[in-house]
Amino acid sequence: MSASRRYHITTFGCQMNKADSERMAGILEAMGFQWSEDPNQAELILYNTCTIRDNAEQKVYSYLGRQAKRKHEQPDLTLIVAGCVAQQEGEKLLRRVPELDLVMGPQHANRLQDLLEQVLAGNQVVATEAIHILEDITKPRRDSKITAWVNVIYGCNERCTYCVVPNVRGVEQSRTPEAIRAEMEELGRQGYSEVTLLGQNIDAYGRDLPGTTPTGRHLHTLTDLLYAVHDVPGIDRLRFATSHPRYFTERLIRACQELPKVCEHFHIPFQSGDNDILKAMARGYTQEKYRRIIETIRYYMPDAAISADAIVGFPGETEAQFQNTLKLVEDIGFDQLNTAAYSPRPGTPAALWHNQLPEEVKADRLQRLNHLVSQTAAERSQRYLGRIEEVLVEEQNPKNPAQVMGRTRTNRLTFSPVRLNSSEDSWCRFVLQKYEPLA
Ligand code: SAH
Ligand code: SF4
Ligand code: F3S
Repeated sequence: MSASRRYHITTFGCQMNKADSERMAGILEAMGFQWSEDPNQAELILYNTCTIRDNAEQKVYSYLGRQAKRKHEQPDLTLIVAGCVAQQEGEKLLRRVPELDLVMGPQHANRLQDLLEQVLAGNQVVATEAIHILEDITKPRRDSKITAWVNVIYGCNERCTYCVVPNVRGVEQSRTPEAIRAEMEELGRQGYSEVTLLGQNIDAYGRDLPGTTPTGRHLHTLTDLLYAVHDVPGIDRLRFATSHPRYFTERLIRACQELPKVCEHFHIPFQSGDNDILKAMARGYTQEKYRRIIETIRYYMPDAAISADAIVGFPGETEAQFQNTLKLVEDIGFDQLNTAAYSPRPGTPAALWHNQLPEEVKADRLQRLNHLVSQTAAERSQRYLGRIEEVLVEEQNPKNPAQVMGRTRTNRLTFSPVRLNSSEDSWCRFVLQKYEPLA
């Protein structure tokens, strides 16, 4: 293959997609492709797509339309749709955008070279069948030199009634602790300081791996994994996401307190503060259980930051049920909350229900929730004022080159007028003097 071909990847969606894009970029570079910042200068364009809500899906089509047009003038342009829209739509995408060369689901990310070779041999390829995900031997092209994502479990076996993820990401597949540790050791050697372990439902880690303890517990759990990778040389901070309240155990919380590298930040989506809505969502916990988890975390780690996701306007949600979500948000005091209006998704049970709410009601609730969130997040930020915090500097502030940007252990984004001269400058201690509410 010619070494002068340039590629561009646009990534939508969650950290899982970002991690997949870094692996696919690594594969392309190993094949001799070079990164092009400008998609219009690239001969290969890959969209790594998200379909969690309708607006995420529609965004992809507008991007695709533009590049499909370009292909008419430049027939050797290779157009690829990867990720969750690719998995959801499969062959239908080829009918909608016949200019596409390759449609590949998330489970096929590590197979990009294989699939591309079929494309370069003149085939239009759709790869969406469920497969056992193989270990990737190529080095990812990571965006950061300081912090890295490491997948520990792919897929999700939950069946939340609103969610497309199990359809598009397939069943849970855990990587072995040995593979995870080996990847982290390599990161440590390369100079990375922070690792975020990734999974859609990371508490499910190890359920599909063989072996049980004498008491009948799975041999490999997230808690065991944290102990198993905690001493990897060079890696000073460990994070993990996303946690499901149903499986968040006190054993895990105690491990987080005991293990000094595990950062005091927990991303635990609650989705709704109302028990009937939680039941209709099939989340498998109550709001009381959620509150107990947060209380337990704060008992062991009083300064821990808590972030979450919430959905408003789920089918049938009454004003009173929505108020229960507001109440939970007010009581807990989240450091950050990702909020969304419910969006009916193809192939999910809730999309077929007849009690859908009007868009205006959803938009109004979203706005009210967001307003509350910005207040509570600002209150939470007050606690940092005047404190000296350990910050791992990640890069220059893209909006102000005189500043560096980094995070506290609690994942608070901070900015400071410090210059970086070498990678050893990554660790700083800042006095936090000003705060701005998190977006
Ligand atoms: N595995 C994670 C979340 C994955 S999806 C969990 O169990 O919490 C990320 C977030 O998108 C979800 O937490 C949810 O808040 C939101 N989301 C998922 N499906 C949605 C839908 N149909 N409409 C609106 N928001 C949705
Ligand atoms: Fe979706 Fe539920 Fe799985 Fe999260 S746990 S990815 S919300 S099905
Ligand atoms: Fe989107 Fe797929 Fe992630 S649908 S949120 S990119 S798992």
